[in-house]
Amino acid sequence: MTNQPKLRPAIAALPTYKAGKKVAGVDGLEPFKLSSNENPTPPLPSVVKAIADAANDIHRYPDPFVTELSEKLAKKFEVPVEAIATGTGSVGVCQQIMQAVADIGDEVIYAWRSFEAYPIITKIVGATPVEVPLTKTGHHDLPAMLNAITERTRLILICTPNNPTGSVVNHKELKEFLTKVPKDILVVIDEAYVEFNRDDESVVGLDLYREFSNVGVLRTFSKAYGLAALRVGFFVGPLNVADAVRKTAVPFGVSNIAQAAAIVSLEHEDELLARVQELVKLRSWFESELKKLGFNLPASQANFVWLPLGDRTDEFVTKCAELAVAVRPFSGEGVRISIGEKPALERVLDALSGLN
Ligand SMILES: Cc1ncc(COP(=O)(O)O)c(C=O)c1O
Repeated sequence: MTNQPKLRPAIAALPTYKAGKKVAGVDGLEPFKLSSNENPTPPLPSVVKAIADAANDIHRYPDPFVTELSEKLAKKFEVPVEAIATGTGSVGVCQQIMQAVADIGDEVIYAWRSFEAYPIITKIVGATPVEVPLTKTGHHDLPAMLNAITERTRLILICTPNNPTGSVVNHKELKEFLTKVPKDILVVIDEAYVEFNRDDESVVGLDLYREFSNVGVLRTFSKAYGLAALRVGFFVGPLNVADAVRKTAVPFGVSNIAQAAAIVSLEHEDELLARVQELVKLRSWFESELKKLGFNLPASQANFVWLPLGDRTDEFVTKCAELAVAVRPFSGEGVRISIGEKPALERVLDALSGLN
């Protein structure tokens, strides 16, 4: 017997989520954070006003059903409102999905490397992660993912554009894959970065949701809409799953401030998507500069790029830190660099040109 309360074994073995680091100050240099795939543009004045107005009501609980936002989303995507479930960021919704479909010992398949929260939230519910390595080009290996399906598979996560490689899954290939997945296994297409995608042949999650009874889509207001701190994301999926995902939500999890900001963001979507287009242009510029330095990378369709620097990763990250720029290292593998402010990206290029 120990003198500490016992934890579930699955929890004791959990890795801790590594959030993108803040930048340590360097004399005379403005610090930049390119480590969390955040939107560098500040909120729209209309959004700030909605937040300020909503602040007057924070002594009341928020609408637990997130009614107005869900209705707006249902209208936008032409889906029944019952197909929508919201939560505290799409990672919160993803955890709600896990709790809804995966029991202890069940299996959850996803590509690896991919979004770092997947293994954590899989293990929280006591399910077993089945990680299928990406191909050499950083793409999902759909045939291998199909082969990984067993009797215990309950959920397959498809991250497109994939974090951290920025690669997308081809629509036709995923459709072909879905025809072979048993219909009692939920397939969730995580489209956190979809607004940054300019590849016409890549997955259109909502089309696949309409076509397959076991497909759902995960979206967020954190990236293109710039509401990362407010924690609001949503799922569009089969009615029975959406219903279950509402049941597993933390009650009142999406604050009134988050709801109000998301609603106003949808109303000003054109302005926000114009800003996204600027970031996409900046990504193209950054990628062409990287090519000039000799990096031949597959195109990223997200608001970040992946540099497979292997054992030079740590050295490069230190060089960036010396220039007051935080990037996201995956030691021994590579670095993910968010498309943030241009001066920050210029410093990253300086750090790269000085690399051994
Ligand atoms: C692929 C992917 N999905 C989901 C999320 C979660 O975003 P949020 O919880 O802010 O909606 C992230 C965040 O980085 C991500 O990279």
